[in-house]
Amino acid sequence: DWGAATGARTVLLPYPRSFCAGVERAIDIVERVLAHRGAPVYVRKQIVHNSHVVARLEGLGAVFVDELDEVPSGATVVFSAHGVSPAVRKEAAHRGLAVVDATCPLVAKVHSEARRFADRGDTVLFIGHDGHEETEGTVGERPGSTVLVEDLAGAARVRVPDTNRVSYLVQTTLGVDEVAEIVDVLHERFPALQGPASDDICYATTNRQQALRSVARKADLVLVVGSRNSSNANRLVELARRLGTPAHLVDDPGGIDLAWLTDAATVAVTAGASTPASLVDATVDALRGLGPVDVREHVVTTEEIEFTLPKEVRNP
Ligand code: F3S
Repeated sequence: DWGAATGARTVLLPYPRSFCAGVERAIDIVERVLAHRGAPVYVRKQIVHNSHVVARLEGLGAVFVDELDEVPSGATVVFSAHGVSPAVRKEAAHRGLAVVDATCPLVAKVHSEARRFADRGDTVLFIGHDGHEETEGTVGERPGSTVLVEDLAGAARVRVPDTNRVSYLVQTTLGVDEVAEIVDVLHERFPALQGPASDDICYATTNRQQALRSVARKADLVLVVGSRNSSNANRLVELARRLGTPAHLVDDPGGIDLAWLTDAATVAVTAGASTPASLVDATVDALRGLGPVDVREHVVTTEEIEFTLPKEVRNP
């Protein structure tokens, strides 16, 4: 019903939102490899979890594959921002592929912790989602010493061979509050539990959640722009709902159900770290199409972090 959805409304834009430094770097890497070596350039898995980003890069000549056996011998393959296990690196070397690694440096940090903790004799409890590429990559560092903990129930249930040698690590894109609860349960069960030196949940995930937290209760509806498989975007939807505001994930404005907008005089729009800012603009434009909008930015912090590129794609 168009009628019920139309009218003047306030649009709240929490900031930070959209691309993080790791996503910008990963996309930049694919574009540079395409420019230097020409199409096709193979990319193992989606470079970042956003359907629009993937479609645009496909248009430029990137070929996304699920596994390395789909990449012809001698070709160049880019590893996605989510990281890979040592088994994948080994297979690429064995196949003679030219690898350019777009793993986010903050994911790589968790990998190195996984190796260090396991190699000192710990059982590593990895708090993450089963089946996510980052989980596969990180757990794959020391699969024999790593146990996946998915939620509170998993934390209450997990068993370790030696309760004095146990540490935990966290997927970079999880919910800050949920992870704190899970770590509390683990600490209670394993008083000797050791954690990472600094938070594994990355600055971008934390900032996007913090920004949304500052506006969610003021809104009648939260729209999170992001793809279905984006972990950090899904966590934003969950956060808004935890705070009591109805929230929906949309890949782009076409995903908006007008019924959501009935009586929604104030709408907050944010986006996951893999979502281009242009899709937030398009979403605000779609709301503008239903009536006058008063757009208000809510900046909770700014982000200056930038990562260096891998040597293979740096300018000489
Ligand atoms: Fe890296 Fe965090 Fe972005 S781990 S890819 S900076 S969401």
